[in-house]
Amino acid sequence: MRVAIVGSGPSGFYAAESLVKAGIEVQADLFEKLPCPFGLVRYGVAPDHQKIKSVTKIFERVAARPNVGFFGNVNVGVDISLAELRRFYDAVIFASGADSDRRLNIPGEDLPGSHTATEFVAWYNGHPEFRDRVFDLSQEVAVVIGQGNVAVDVCRMLCRTVDELKGTDIAQHALDVLAESRVREVYMIGRRGPVQAKFAQIEIKEIGEMADCTPLVAPAELELEAVSEEELRHPESAGMDRIVAILREYSANQRVQGRRRLHVLFRRSPVEIRGNGHVENIVLEKNRLEGAPLQVKAVGTGQTEALDCGLVFRSVGYRGLPLPGVPFDARAGVIPNSGGRVTEDGKIVPGVYTAGWIKRGPSGTIGTNKPDSQQTVGAIVQDLSGLTPCENPSGSSVLDLLNTRRVRVVSFGDWQRIDAAEVERGRVSGKPREKFVTPGAMLEALSAVTAR
Ligand SMILES: Cc1cc2nc3c(=O)[nH]c(=O)nc-3n(C[C@H](O)[C@H](O)[C@H](O)COP(=O)(O)OP(=O)(O)OC[C@H]3O[C@@H](n4cnc5c(N)ncnc54)[C@H](O)[C@@H]3O)c2cc1C
Ligand SMILES: NC(=O)c1ccc[n+]([C@@H]2O[C@H](COP(=O)([O-])OP(=O)(O)OC[C@H]3O[C@@H](n4cnc5c(N)ncnc54)[C@H](OP(=O)(O)O)[C@@H]3O)[C@@H](O)[C@H]2O)c1
Repeated sequence: MRVAIVGSGPSGFYAAESLVKAGIEVQADLFEKLPCPFGLVRYGVAPDHQKIKSVTKIFERVAARPNVGFFGNVNVGVDISLAELRRFYDAVIFASGADSDRRLNIPGEDLPGSHTATEFVAWYNGHPEFRDRVFDLSQEVAVVIGQGNVAVDVCRMLCRTVDELKGTDIAQHALDVLAESRVREVYMIGRRGPVQAKFAQIEIKEIGEMADCTPLVAPAELELEAVSEEELRHPESAGMDRIVAILREYSANQRVQGRRRLHVLFRRSPVEIRGNGHVENIVLEKNRLEGAPLQVKAVGTGQTEALDCGLVFRSVGYRGLPLPGVPFDARAGVIPNSGGRVTEDGKIVPGVYTAGWIKRGPSGTIGTNKPDSQQTVGAIVQDLSGLTPCENPSGSSVLDLLNTRRVRVVSFGDWQRIDAAEVERGRVSGKPREKFVTPGAMLEALSAVTAR
């Protein structure tokens, strides 16, 4: 059984792990468009969350298996098509993540100074496709729309001091800009109430532990409507009471410390971003909450207020992108599937599977992808006897094809050499690594090491 896995984020690696443990004779090859593996573990997880990144050790052990291959620097859909992959593999799993973002669809969304969290996160993490983005941090007031964990990450990165960040793997270009930041007030704004906020307890606690920033929540923001009280008591809201309690501690705090303040606002939706050539303010509509517990919706009251700000970060969720020749549900931003089997017009496409964020949408932590990928691999194992075998079951033929296209395929061993060079670069400045921020620089580092 030969399986190609497109994408080497958590879902790709968990799929490879699950395949090699499935009790079948299998070769699982991961194809990754960048010369480096790990997806959002490298380019999403916040630099001040280094411990979380140690999950890569598990992925390294998967990659070390003799029947797991890594084809880095290969953009599927550009360097090799799905039809071509099918010539070499009995099954293909798309685990390509969600590279784009949801839109607010409000006037002014694209004004200079209004950015997506996706861009900002990828920029501070040194993603090659985003390293040239420009963020004008000479502004004093920044607004972050959304109250998921990504929104909290963005707020923290805007509020942390250089000292808190300089020992992390933050990209140096971002650290330099953040060092000059004049942002003093950050507003994190949610359309529903504190009980419906998506952030995790650990994340909301962390905003109270920053060196130079005080979180502020006005008491009125935490007055709960009957439905929120009811939702709080619901078994599915376990832990939410602790989040509300932490917010109440912030609200009761009379001591404002540090140069920065992080204001948490609820029940407000952005309706317009205004400014003359650059963001100057954001118009927010106050909401009331309607619906049953766990199905609460924000409904506009018609009452608006303008908040002066020079920067807006829209953190309202990621979004998958279509791949050439692969079915795509444009409304949901996912590859349509039934338990991991890709479907087109409701029919199963034989031999084509999906896992992770591109399968189920952009939600869940790293660990959530493990059972998700296991489900997909379970479907492959069930389908095994019915799959049409590929024409050319040879790994070297895939390489030959990519070589004729002048694609410099990066093996896992190559990546480990790039990795070592990054760690070495970081050592000089006391960072766990200094990332190379272009594929060219990664390949150059590789040539330099190979030449030695
Ligand atoms: C900003 C942010 C911070 C997060 N922080 C945490 C955290 O602290 N803790 C936690 O548990 N979870 C965190 N998560 C969630 C976690 O990162 C995701 O659950 C997980 O990464 C999703 O895995 P995936 O493999 O589906 O997608 P991804 O991690 O996005 O991996 C997809 C991979 O596919 C590759 N790819 C895309 N297109 C192609 C193509 N055409 N050809 C070849 N390769 C391709 C991409 O380059 C990428 O490497 C965070 C998410 C975000 C957005
Ligand atoms: N430390 C960690 O473990 C960590 C860190 C980062 C990310 N992650 C995970 O990665 C996943 C993605 O995180 P995320 O923060 O991008 O997504 P998310 O958890 O889905 O949060 C999205 C936020 O945007 C809001 N929103 C959506 N559409 C909106 C609109 N039109 N107007 C106003 N607000 C809108 C949502 O509000 P509603 O609730 O009202 O829809 C919600 O507050 C999550 O599962 C998250 O837990 C984990």
